[in-house]
Order: sequence, then structure tokens, then C-alpha cells
Amino acid sequence: MAGISEILENNKQWVASKNAEDPKFFHRLANGQKPKYLFIGCSDSRVPASGITGTGPGEMFVHRNIANLVVHTDMNLLSVLQYAVEVLGVQDIMVVGHYGCGGVAAAANNKQYGLIDNWLVNIRDVVRLHETELLRLKDEEQRLRRLVELNVVEQVRNLAKTNIIQNAMRSDNPPRLHGLVYDIADGVLKDLNVDGDQVFTQMEHIYATEAPEAEATSAATPAPAPRADLKPTPKPTPKPAAVGDNGQ
Ligand code: CO
Repeated sequence: MAGISEILENNKQWVASKNAEDPKFFHRLANGQKPKYLFIGCSDSRVPASGITGTGPGEMFVHRNIANLVVHTDMNLLSVLQYAVEVLGVQDIMVVGHYGCGGVAAAANNKQYGLIDNWLVNIRDVVRLHETELLRLKDEEQRLRRLVELNVVEQVRNLAKTNIIQNAMRSDNPPRLHGLVYDIADGVLKDLNVDGDQVFTQMEHIYATEAPEAEATSAATPAPAPRADLKPTPKPTPKPAAVGDNGQ
């Protein structure tokens, strides 16, 4: 079979098998979606979002790009995030990296690849932020694996910087943020145990903003109370900025 005829044949068989096990399956899905999860993963063909998480149609909203990056000028990612959080009300947001990521490996060397180099700058920022730790790892494979993990953690931080997450964390039903790494060599999905609440509170005093309408009425209406289960962040002692300070 040439081209996509195999794909279309597979689809026919899938429709037939789904209808055989549950005649109302497609009818139910046609009525809308209420996924619990948002998956932000790499475009790599070896990381199929549904397959590795055991989720079926309707259960997980998915965004994928090269090296699972959360970039604040990416309208695609931001639109997915806003819709998932504010309209669909997803409860858990996972950034899912994977060992053996070609994007991460490309960012870790000094070759030029063209346009994509500008995308990979975001991973080089992760290298810059964690250079001391990465340089301590002498084995290249170990260093790349650690960079994959650190990239996931930084992308969770990037999520927490958005006004979408900053606002959602103050709502009655805040989403949970997670960082995971998938190993394409053994199929295991590992939780990096990123403390999403801590990531949020660490950065709240810098990234939290007030909506314009809230500002206009703030004299009459007090700002929403912070979440009871989150400890208030102490105001940092101002110190003069030094050249070379880590900052994005
Ligand atoms: Co990848």
C-alpha cells in the first residue's frame, strides 16, 4: 500500500472495533469533552501521548512541540493552555520530556540547524541557568539525561509564570503542575516530583499580576485571598542587581 492508504484502512478497523465494544462511544464523544489532563510533550514520534499514559479519546488535552517547551510568545501553547485551564477546567497539567530528546541534544552542541536554532535557544537558557550542575557531570550521556530533566523543571516554571496559571492558582479549583520524563528505552514514565505549589509561590511575588478590572475596583473590592494551603511568600530583601545574575 502506498501513501496513507494503510492509515485509512487502520482507521476503518478502529471505528469498527470501537463500535463493536461500545455502540454509543462516538455519540458520547460528539457531545463534548471534559478532559482532566493537559499533556505538554515533545513532537517525537516515539512519545505517543495517549499510548504512554493509557488515556483514550476525551481524557487528555494535548500540546506537543519540539522538546516540550513552554515559550511565552508561543500563541499556540498559550491558546491551548488558556482553553484547557479556563474553559475545560483541566485538573492536572503535565510537562512531559523524554530521554534521548533530539531537540535537547541539538541544543547541547554548537552546530547550526537553521531556523530551529532560535527555538533551541530556550533549552540553551536552561543550560545557562544550570551550567554548574551540568558541568559536574563528566559523562555526556548522563549530562544529556540531566538536561532533559532540568528542561522539564524549567518548563514547569515557565507555566507558573503565565498569567493564565497565576490567575488559576488563585481560583477555587487550582490545577496541579507536574514534571515527568519518559524513557523511550524502557517505556517508563517517571515523575520528577516537581512541587508545583512551591514553584508557584516562589515566583508569585514577581509574576502575579492583577487584572485591569480588579485594579479599577480594588479600592472597593479587596483582592482575592491567597489559597489557604499555600504559605505566603516572604517579601525578598531587595539587593542590587549584579551583572550575570541568573534571570530570564
Ligand atoms: Co524530543
